Amino acid sequence: MATDHERIEPAAEAATIENLLREERTFAPPAAFVAAATAHDPDIYARTATDEGFRAFWAQEAKRIDWIEPWTELLDWQLPYAKWFVGGKLNISANCLDRHVANGLGGKVAYYWEGEPGDSRTLTYAQLLEETCRMANALRSLGVKKGDKVAIYMPMIPELPIAMLACARIGAPHSVVFGGFSADALAGRIDDAQCTTVITADGGYRKGAAVHLKASADDAMNRSPSVKHCVVVRRTGDPVDWNPDRDHWWHELTAAQPTTAEPEPMDSEDLLYLLYTSGTTAKPKGIMHTTGGYLVGTATTHRLIFDIKPEDVYWCMADIGWVTGHSYIVYGPLANATTGIIYEGAIDFPEKDRWAQIAAKYRATILYTAPTAIRALMKYGHDEFARDDLSSLRLLGSVGEPINPEAWAWYWKYIGGERCPVVDTWWQTETGMILITPLPGITTTKPGSATFPFPGIKAGVVDEAGNSVPLGGGGYLVLERPWPAMLRGIYGDHDRYVETYWSRYPGRYFAGDGCKRDDEGYYWLLGRVDDVMNVSGHRISTTEVESALVSHPAVAEAAVVGRTDPITGQAIFSYVILRSGFEASDALGADLREHVSEVIGKLARPKQIMFTPDLPKTRSGKIMRRLLRDVAEQRALGDVTTLADAGIVATIREQSGRGED
Ligand code: PRX
Repeated sequence: MATDHERIEPAAEAATIENLLREERTFAPPAAFVAAATAHDPDIYARTATDEGFRAFWAQEAKRIDWIEPWTELLDWQLPYAKWFVGGKLNISANCLDRHVANGLGGKVAYYWEGEPGDSRTLTYAQLLEETCRMANALRSLGVKKGDKVAIYMPMIPELPIAMLACARIGAPHSVVFGGFSADALAGRIDDAQCTTVITADGGYRKGAAVHLKASADDAMNRSPSVKHCVVVRRTGDPVDWNPDRDHWWHELTAAQPTTAEPEPMDSEDLLYLLYTSGTTAKPKGIMHTTGGYLVGTATTHRLIFDIKPEDVYWCMADIGWVTGHSYIVYGPLANATTGIIYEGAIDFPEKDRWAQIAAKYRATILYTAPTAIRALMKYGHDEFARDDLSSLRLLGSVGEPINPEAWAWYWKYIGGERCPVVDTWWQTETGMILITPLPGITTTKPGSATFPFPGIKAGVVDEAGNSVPLGGGGYLVLERPWPAMLRGIYGDHDRYVETYWSRYPGRYFAGDGCKRDDEGYYWLLGRVDDVMNVSGHRISTTEVESALVSHPAVAEAAVVGRTDPITGQAIFSYVILRSGFEASDALGADLREHVSEVIGKLARPKQIMFTPDLPKTRSGKIMRRLLRDVAEQRALGDVTTLADAGIVATIREQSGRGED
């Protein structure tokens, strides 16, 4: 079978990497870096370890932001709900914009924006504030008010952060839906939150083609009676359908608006946004993030982990549609008055070194990306970007999935030129902020390890029964103390919130990730332990893909597992039982993959579909995914004694390999 695995050439650095592993090399922060580091005192860990110290730390950090009214209580922790900075009033957009302009930073660049076709825009803090105010006024003119939910479905253009900041300014929680999601996925999210307004664009560019977002948004809105208004940015200029009772062009609506807008005073615990993430059931969870704690948590972690200095040019390469973009392109960096880069398109388009050209053009100093991107660049080889000057870089970050030591070492050597510390940051949509990470001026790193909990974060590794696993052993990652940017629940579903995060180990947050600690206490994340796949750093639920497959008329039953993939971390492997009257064929396989892509989005398209007459089930009828994973990974099979029909596994194994993408 011609798997992707065989097509990948071995990395040129294989010898070095083996060497690295054999030597168990460690990377102490370079002396020059330590000398200038924002966080340089290792005592920060001891200071924040006690309950008092941790409270003092966050109380101190909260002084860095502007409060309209001061908070009176740092933390009100009534399991499983935390309230932070109780009684405080603030506005996030004012903290991200007005305050910097008032401090004389109006002329500082907030974002360098680069479109995929090569167009570009520079927005200063003063301009970003004006644009945000115009849009805030525009939303108010449509009747959008505090508490109304606004769905944002946009390409990576400046209007995306502007839309978010405008919502934050008027107190309307936003729900950003990644532009790669389908109309169905958008409709489900609009409906769950009963969004009254949708902000979108005619389209955006990706790999040279225009993605027609307005068409998908129309499809979704036609099924969503809660939507009264839609604001559309003209990006591609392609024709769009228009509903004059509902649709407004962004440029027309904002043109005549005043460039100032009163920020709504928000309570610390008022909802800032919803962001949907996959769980183990088909229905995505609307993760709730509030105002005060989220801002303090993201600003502090951004400043200390990325060692932010006033002159930095920081590039987080994620899409704003994911939590990484919310916390570390928009809110954290803007709160710290950082200059950032936003890029619209694919990092390897039109040339494989497009990303490096952009980094060189703006003299980027900090790069934050995902292992899947690093592996893709590694596959191209470092010669591809030899012509680009990356000497401005001084710090590298990784997020989204475990980074294999091989990719870490390559990142450090070829992108970082052996001089930039690498911060491997572990966190989740739910955690809102980075929780396990090196501090680049303090921590000695080990390739593949996210190292230690951030100061004040109390993490642990426990066994099935909840007992702490001694150093050297593996188990489940738990968090034992609240943190400011933690989720405040699942929108409209208290029971699911309790069940998902707080019931497995009462009193402790269950992250759903496996983790081991080495003898020195370094944390090594081991991936998800639930039925959630991680494809290119994005969580996709097996159930969601199965539901999408079963919604195709040819499919009777489907089971989906993640299979290790050299580039995307995991790839989606689907087993499909057809309804009678349908014949397995390559064409049908292609059709099913396209179907999933339409129902959920391209990122959920299965890499492989295998047609099978039956599935391995326990006698109680539960599909044995563990076996399917073993088959997909071509591993020796585990225990098969509980199978209802042992023959089926042999049949599946024989067939595996057909129907490859
Ligand atoms: O499994 C972990 C993995 O990504 C999951 C969270 O996914 P999501 O909510 O989409 O947020 C991704 C960006 C924050 C985690 O449960 N993950 C994230 N970062 C790392 C990681 N696994 C290992 N190492 C990381 N640095």
